[in-house]
Amino acid sequence: MIRITPPLPVVAKGLAGFLVEMSATHARIDWMGDHADSNINKISVSRSSAKHSDFDVRPEGQSIYRFDENSLTEVQDLMHALRKSQHIDLCATQDVEHSAKDNGFSSIKIPVVSLPEVNWSEVSTEKTFLGQTFGAPIVITGMTGGVAQGTMINERLAHCAVTHKIPMGVGSQRMALENSALEGIFKLKDKFPGLFLIGNVGIGQLHGPHFLDFCQRAVDMIHANALAIHVNVLQELIQVEGDRDFRGIIEKISAIQSKLKVPVIVKEVGAGLDAITAKKLWDTGIKYFDVGGAGGTSWAHIEGLRASDELIRRRGALFRDWGLTTAEALKTVRSALPAAAIIATGGIRDGLTVLKAVYSGADMAGIGLPLMKAAIEHDDAATKLMAAIIDELKIAMMVSGIRISPKN
Ligand SMILES: Cc1cc2nc3c(=O)[nH]c(=O)nc-3n(C[C@H](O)[C@H](O)[C@H](O)COP(=O)(O)O)c2cc1C
Repeated sequence: MIRITPPLPVVAKGLAGFLVEMSATHARIDWMGDHADSNINKISVSRSSAKHSDFDVRPEGQSIYRFDENSLTEVQDLMHALRKSQHIDLCATQDVEHSAKDNGFSSIKIPVVSLPEVNWSEVSTEKTFLGQTFGAPIVITGMTGGVAQGTMINERLAHCAVTHKIPMGVGSQRMALENSALEGIFKLKDKFPGLFLIGNVGIGQLHGPHFLDFCQRAVDMIHANALAIHVNVLQELIQVEGDRDFRGIIEKISAIQSKLKVPVIVKEVGAGLDAITAKKLWDTGIKYFDVGGAGGTSWAHIEGLRASDELIRRRGALFRDWGLTTAEALKTVRSALPAAAIIATGGIRDGLTVLKAVYSGADMAGIGLPLMKAAIEHDDAATKLMAAIIDELKIAMMVSGIRISPKN
């Protein structure tokens, strides 16, 4: 069961209550006042002021209801939307980062040049990646905006990306692939035609025979310039409803790469890509990697925070700091694959660290959480934060003498 925060209003036969916990099959409802459980066979859940869902239920115990078979698809849809909204709420309000580890770049030393005889205007942050020249070696990494705030967050991030001529990823497109009414959240090129957009699906969605079609639809939906496939095994294992079977995934990723006309990026999300896995992927034709290391947003911790079950909370805490730091993952993948195109994401928060990542072998640095928070805060806060980061990058370039190699 996951905790529903804030609880969702529920009505049934004139009774009012709140949905406080939910799993893919069960719900716990706190009713206001007296009621007779056995009389309730349909509950109506208010998802937002605009949307209600009716579910067939069977009472199971005091305040616990089992969803009827007929309702399961819709329940899963609701769970998915709730999960995404919870991720946003937790990221906006709580400390969701690794606690005992930093991104690993603090100990990396870069050169110092006391008197750089250059003009600020000559220092270029430009970088060519995925066949396009960008204003800085920075990617806005894919983040899901949830249903209610999704469009607003994505548009603010897209504005930031277009202003600074940098690429942007969207978060998992799963919900829009399963429910076309939600496609608008991701279709950013209608409003931002010049945007370089990276689509996103997870390894959890590659089950079954239709995975190629699923990925093709993800690309077509948003006219994506590339597709990221996120690898989040630890997160899946912590989630109650997460995936448990990862057999054959590398072969599937290879088939996706062969079928799609856009490049495929394999993207870890906080536990750090290891060199052996990267090499296996490389051998099947994958050339683009986001090493997604520890030191920033911790998905194990977020899943622990979402859970009401004490055992899941314990798991989340235990694995909060799991994985290779971003600097470690970058180092190991770069030495195994000198010719790979690598994005380093995970705990990168400023322009000095962007330069340290580039100096350590990254082609691009990815930034997630701080941009998401800024996008929630104010309409141009993400754009301003990115301007500050690019300025910091330039200062670091001036006083270190390090230059960004324009090509990758
Ligand atoms: C609210 C939120 C939602 C995210 N959703 C996705 C997602 O759907 N797909 C994905 O590949 N990564 C997702 N991520 C992971 C980020 O792209 C990034 O890899 C991770 O947050 C580490 O970077 P950071 O430390 O800068 O946040 C999400 C991150 C955040 C903060």
